[in-house]
Amino acid sequence: MDIVFTEEQEMMRKMVREFAQEEIAPFVERMEQGEFPREILRKMGELGLMGIPVPEEYGGSGMDFTSYIIAINELSRVSATVGVILSVHTSVGTYPILYFGTEEQKQKYVPRLAGGEYLGAFCLTEPGAGSDAGSLKTKAVKEGDFYRLNGSKVFITNGGEADTYIVFASTNPAEGSKGVSAFIVEKETPGFLIGKDEHKMGLHGSRTVQLSFEDALVPAENLLGKEGEGFKIAMANLDSGRIGIAAQSLGIAEAALQHAAAYARERHQFGKPIAAQQGIAFKLADMATNVEAARLLTYQAAFLRNKGASCGKEASMAKLFSSKTAMEVSTEAIQVYGGYGYTKDYPAERFFRDAKVCEIYEGTSEIQRIVISKHLAKMNS
Ligand code: CAA
Repeated sequence: MDIVFTEEQEMMRKMVREFAQEEIAPFVERMEQGEFPREILRKMGELGLMGIPVPEEYGGSGMDFTSYIIAINELSRVSATVGVILSVHTSVGTYPILYFGTEEQKQKYVPRLAGGEYLGAFCLTEPGAGSDAGSLKTKAVKEGDFYRLNGSKVFITNGGEADTYIVFASTNPAEGSKGVSAFIVEKETPGFLIGKDEHKMGLHGSRTVQLSFEDALVPAENLLGKEGEGFKIAMANLDSGRIGIAAQSLGIAEAALQHAAAYARERHQFGKPIAAQQGIAFKLADMATNVEAARLLTYQAAFLRNKGASCGKEASMAKLFSSKTAMEVSTEAIQVYGGYGYTKDYPAERFFRDAKVCEIYEGTSEIQRIVISKHLAKMNS
């Protein structure tokens, strides 16, 4: 497959790269101290970055999926925090409404999300239902014009900051994953409570919270799709989401490589740059090769998604490999920096801390292997 970007896609890359350097890089330290990048998101909204692949008729930029992936890739080279906020907002916070919503739901929510007025979140994971997402316990009981929701969610990215939440709850527990339904829940819904903000290893500027529903009454008109379709809605949108996380991982890996290579050219030991010593030169060569492979897998999945082709297997492969690459390359980057890499004076330790969660959220690496194996089994049957 040739990776040839269109002129429009290249313009997106250039624009986001400049924006990240000018607007986000100076803010990284504040995010490291835990500040949510609200002002950056506002500027991204003005530039049309909060709704890149959303059609113009719904207030988006009307660009293709690959352009959106390019944006996450570029943002994550500077800040993986901003990368994941955008990925969750778009792939799993906006797409479910765009693809499964009624015309009224789309008109009401999508333009606000795509324009950056609203931030989106996705609430699938529960204390007892992580990888086994279909076993979720949050319940939704229909009562007249409302559904009464009770239960709790954990590890919700953008939680507390978001305005709309795609919430998965069981309307028919006897049916297991086939009894799961999806709802659009607004932040101000009475009985919808924002809980503990997790103190994380990395991605310090991104919010990850616990949520609970205590007799939260959600209007019946906010049911997304039909009752029982929720699990498929979650899975279908996670296909796109996983390409977003692959792009985020790729951005981290590219940044780690770039910084490590630059340092290796400057740092002299034994009378020459360490980049000219074979131990480090080979390390950089392996890092660069893995980054290139991650790039190919990520953009292959994006191109397939762009064409409307099935991309579940490729999305999982891209996420599996790119997240592994981000972890390996950021680990090796610290090694290239030596003792300095272990300090906060250089960004390598941030890349390392930010990379780890890419192997965990939107499906662990083990889950990606399950998804890939299931596709292979279908191909062989
Ligand atoms: N698209 C559409 N439908 C799909 C699908 C997809 N990609 N994948 C599965 N389905 C459908 C299946 O066809 C099946 O329906 P039928 O029986 O009618 O054919 C139904 O969903 C159930 O599928 P499975 O039998 O494969 O389901 P399972 O219970 O065995 O689970 C799983 C499969 C892949 C393990 C799934 O549970 C999973 O992906 N787990 C990981 C959960 C996850 O990724 N969580 C991330 C949370 S969000 C997040 O992390 C965001 C963030 O903060 C960054």
